[in-house]
Amino acid sequence: MWRSRAVDVAKLPSPPGRLPVLGDVLSINPRKPVQSMAKLSESAGPIYELRFGPTKMVIINSAELADAVQSDAEWEKEFGPPIRRLRAVARTGLIVASTQDPQWAAAHRVLMPGFTREAMGLYHPVMMDVVGELVRKWQRGNGAVDVAGDMNSLTLEVIARAGFGHRFTSLDNPVEKSLPVVTLMLDALRYASRPVSIGLLDSTIGRAAQQRHLHKVAELHRIAEDMIDGHRSDASEPPNLLRRMMETPDPETGQPLSRTVVRDQIVTFLIAGHETSAGTLAFALHLLADRPDVVARVRQEIGTIADGDPTTLSYEQVAKLRYLRRVVDEALRLWPVAGGYFRRPKQDTHLGGYRIKRGECVYVNLLAIHRDKAAWGPDADRFEPDRFAPNATPQRTAGAYKPFGIGIRSCIGRQFAIHEIVLALAHVLNAFDLESDSAYRLEIDELVTLKPTGLRMRLRSRDSHLA
Ligand code: HEM
Repeated sequence: MWRSRAVDVAKLPSPPGRLPVLGDVLSINPRKPVQSMAKLSESAGPIYELRFGPTKMVIINSAELADAVQSDAEWEKEFGPPIRRLRAVARTGLIVASTQDPQWAAAHRVLMPGFTREAMGLYHPVMMDVVGELVRKWQRGNGAVDVAGDMNSLTLEVIARAGFGHRFTSLDNPVEKSLPVVTLMLDALRYASRPVSIGLLDSTIGRAAQQRHLHKVAELHRIAEDMIDGHRSDASEPPNLLRRMMETPDPETGQPLSRTVVRDQIVTFLIAGHETSAGTLAFALHLLADRPDVVARVRQEIGTIADGDPTTLSYEQVAKLRYLRRVVDEALRLWPVAGGYFRRPKQDTHLGGYRIKRGECVYVNLLAIHRDKAAWGPDADRFEPDRFAPNATPQRTAGAYKPFGIGIRSCIGRQFAIHEIVLALAHVLNAFDLESDSAYRLEIDELVTLKPTGLRMRLRSRDSHLA
């Protein structure tokens, strides 16, 4: 039985089975917190609270309530457990820094111009190259594809080359099997995603694991330091993210970013810029494998926009693949890889009629909100890209769809991600027929972000459409 009392007097609903001292640990699968919280919302409704020891968290699960948490004037970014633990890796990086930290503001000002339309045009040829390498690799293979792993390599290579002029590998190099840096990143994320109860053991029996983690963090920092050392000021080179950070002072203070801040941003972008896009691509391919009708429409669109040959796509043409863009939007609706975001009110406030004190932690659970039937209709669980067609659905409220977060702390890499994902899907869907592995059951890992664990697929080359 869920406990709630009259609104405002009032305790928020909380799950049954709360333990003294430990709180609601039995209600949440610590390895799949976002999925557990979304599941709980089915019985708990749009708002409830969770307690873990002294820590209290309010979870919201409806588009209507998410609307109330949009304003930067009234709410600020809060750091939930995984992001706090990621600080050991990303240090002063954008995603983990406080909004009040002058280093966050300076880095944000320096990096924002790296995501304008003009800057995106510079990344386009790099993305085309890396995607081409992946397609060639898959064409050479026997059809069985490690979708999750290869998507990680693809997106990491894209951000490394486009952002920092650094080449980890060539994806179509037959000798190269897997990228050691991908493993390093995943290990770091796995450690940051440990259940809270394991986190408490760090100072005792978890010491060895902690040491291994610190070693890997040092290795990631060394990779970033090498990129900084390899940087040469060359006006003929495109102004990628590294060049911007090394050569552009903060327009407000006139000060350059420190070497440590640059290093932390490189690590941050390598992590934030690859895992999310890779997960989205993997989810999209998984969904598309069961929808030949959708794939056929995508191919038709590629036929119209690029004469059936995505290898000739220009930057401007990618934006014209509007149906494919809807496919990506819909994949991100069903599987918002970031899971959700944390906020706290700057003043005492009310949510759903319940009182929320200043500074209390609120988690906006996108996995639940993106499937809220009140916002999306009774078929909210169905993959239907045309939901995003202009005028297809009645006006949705602002909070109903926020895969890239909100306000000033929303995703700086949004356009980068969308361009890269649309481009990659255009190439892959044009070159291959997708076949889901009938033995595969969708299992979702939470390594800070959501991703389909071990997703494998069979791809058949469409010979007449070779990319
Ligand atoms: C589908 C892909 C992506 C999704 C769904 C996504 C989602 C998000 C979300 C929800 C946030 C806000 C988190 C919060 O409020 O706590 C965020 C922040 C951020 N993202 Fe992304 N992201 C994606 C791709 C990228 C890419 C490609 C890059 C880099 C090129 C990137 C870089 C960042 C950074 C640096 C931040 C922190 C911004 C700040 O707080 O100043 N993301 N992302």
